[in-house]
Amino acid sequence: MLIGAAVRPVQLSELAYADTLAREFNMLEPEDALKWEVVHPTQQSFDFSQADQIVDFAVGHDMKVRGHTLVWHHQNPAWLTESKFNSSQLEQILEQHIKTVVGHYRGKIFAWDVVNEAFDELRPGELRRTIWSGSGTLPDCSYIERSFRWAHEADPQVLLFYNEAEAEVVNPKSDAIYAMVRDFRERGVPINGVGFQMHIANLHPDVASISANIRRFTALGVQIQITEMDVALPVDVEGNARPEDLQQQANIYREIATACLSHPGCTAIQTWGFTDKYSWIGSHSKHTRGAALPFDKAYRPKPAYEALRNALENGTRRARPQPEPH
Ligand code: XIL
Repeated sequence: MLIGAAVRPVQLSELAYADTLAREFNMLEPEDALKWEVVHPTQQSFDFSQADQIVDFAVGHDMKVRGHTLVWHHQNPAWLTESKFNSSQLEQILEQHIKTVVGHYRGKIFAWDVVNEAFDELRPGELRRTIWSGSGTLPDCSYIERSFRWAHEADPQVLLFYNEAEAEVVNPKSDAIYAMVRDFRERGVPINGVGFQMHIANLHPDVASISANIRRFTALGVQIQITEMDVALPVDVEGNARPEDLQQQANIYREIATACLSHPGCTAIQTWGFTDKYSWIGSHSKHTRGAALPFDKAYRPKPAYEALRNALENGTRRARPQPEPH
């Protein structure tokens, strides 16, 4: 089972950060270092220095690396979003970006989030309108398929994922993704998996629906990976959560891990960061929420860590069939 965390390169020089990461995880993913604004700062230049630091750390500690992300509507540089490129120019730019970045990490990154959050959150089941989906009356989804094909050309061995938010349960968004993935599989578009982000803010998630969703996707022959899990809690001005919420958070981590473990096609559980010292939830919620991760600000394991560990040790992972003994 792959157990991962999203990582920021500046923190790798902090001893407790690096030690905890290397000790507890066997996979990592750059949290921001592979996004366009970092890796492709001007139209003519690529800057791999931040992501290379993270990949070097992983190689040095025998960890796998997930790549995140090749196509998204956020964290794009101004040269891309503010220039008025026409659709064929954008297509060329995207192809060059994907082939350059995937090519740079060929053999080092084992799985890529090729496209992130292509479906809209306000219009359930509909495609999001972005620079990539064109300026026609309806958003054009063909860039998604092209992106998977280009990534596959750049590294035929790498696993290619579609990653999405708020599609963990069976709902109109996950229905639309399911239809897209089924169509891709039928037509031979190279897709190997779907990432469920799993940013949880509601302390009573519908785990039965998450489990049913994992089941239907894995039945299509794609892997599911939990890619960005955190469980945001209400916090006081010091960033501390209530003990009963920390307990409920632990239950959620346990239930989600158990749901993943019970499906052989669910192959990874990754958290979005690992210590409450560094988590996007604080700034994202104007500091009303936090304490979302398995380790506290001092790197001490929280109830969520114990629950996760327990689930992994006792999980009913169905073993692959073993050959009969002679
Ligand atoms: C977040 C990062 O954690 C922050 O550091 C950054 O400022 C904004 O993006 N879904 C995703 C991630 O796919 O890339 C986002 O990461 C969180 C939501």
